[in-house]
Amino acid sequence: MKAIAKSVYWVGAVHWDRRLFDSLIPLPDGTTYNAYLIQGSEKTALLDAVDPEFAQTLLASLDGVERIDYVVSQHAEQDHSGSIPQVLARYPEAKVMATAKAKPMLMDLLHIPEDKFVVVADGESLSLGDKTLRFIHTPWAHWPETMSTYLVEDKILFSCDFLGSHIASSDLFVTDQCRVHESAKRYFAEIMMPFRSILAKNLDKLAACDIGMIAPSHGQIYDNPGWIVEAYREWVSAPPRNLVALPYVSMHGSTGRMVDHLTAALSAKGVQVELFNLAVTDIGKLAMALVDAGTILVGTPTVLAGPHPLAAYAAFLANALRPKAQYLSIIGSYGWGGKTVETLASMIPNLKVEVLDPVLCKGLPKQDTLEALDRLADTIATKHRESGFRN
Ligand code: FEO
Repeated sequence: MKAIAKSVYWVGAVHWDRRLFDSLIPLPDGTTYNAYLIQGSEKTALLDAVDPEFAQTLLASLDGVERIDYVVSQHAEQDHSGSIPQVLARYPEAKVMATAKAKPMLMDLLHIPEDKFVVVADGESLSLGDKTLRFIHTPWAHWPETMSTYLVEDKILFSCDFLGSHIASSDLFVTDQCRVHESAKRYFAEIMMPFRSILAKNLDKLAACDIGMIAPSHGQIYDNPGWIVEAYREWVSAPPRNLVALPYVSMHGSTGRMVDHLTAALSAKGVQVELFNLAVTDIGKLAMALVDAGTILVGTPTVLAGPHPLAAYAAFLANALRPKAQYLSIIGSYGWGGKTVETLASMIPNLKVEVLDPVLCKGLPKQDTLEALDRLADTIATKHRESGFRN
């Protein structure tokens, strides 16, 4: 149990060697599951729990705490709620405070009995005596039921996944802002990006609070929180950058040669390019580039009459993440034919993009293909300039 303010304690767990979340998201720096104990003069509340794998760590931190009156469940996903049943077993008097949408989810996911719950409304306050919790619904950060909690007297915002980062550290507070910025951006890209318009409203709501500290449920605590809020505002609302995100795969080098030629042509025209060889890339890096990119280019050979499965995966991911890119195209080489463009185009219905003429070639690219790639680079540079994309 480590104090972050008077009678406010971190009681979380550090998962140093976790490398994958949801069997999908790379965690190069591990993560933490932050839970917080708030002891008011009359009542005690636990804010969130930890991943069930670390239930004993949480319970050990709570040794000596005789009574918990409230377990505030800000988010039903199991990395924060999964050990609530064990907490309730030790503290049967505790009530679970959750949004109306979280309650049935927690009942379904964890089989918590209905009579354990108290539903809290948006803006509702809960007195712990000399400390007051105010619940602020922050839906789609990143599930529909999520909320944040503002500790009024200490000006601490407990934001759950929102504004958090996946970093395992022995330091509770941010020590390296650049490192946390990258990790928080990765986290935003991987799970928050599709919900940008609602997140912008959530940020506006939180701006009404006088926030001195932000204590998320993953990663380090922000004792100087202004920069992370501003970073989120940019990721959520700023227009795209003069950047092409180019995920590609090449089997025998032909598509790779096209990618190299197009990258050089774009760079010569002042367009930044980030390449992601899908055979080896960290998919989180691609997600981060999608936060900013004005154009997405997919490079793929034709295999089994369609796009390479890794390219299909990248397209499926981009479609799910709904980035703010405004243009998209496809380049690649084929051996004898296929429906690569049609198949990929059918996989991105969520993307509000103008599809620029794809460039496909048979076998190793010849001069006419290289010239077509030059024209595509020209088109992209012009579109980015006319759209006012930032460098
Ligand atoms: Fe950290 Fe959505 O759970």
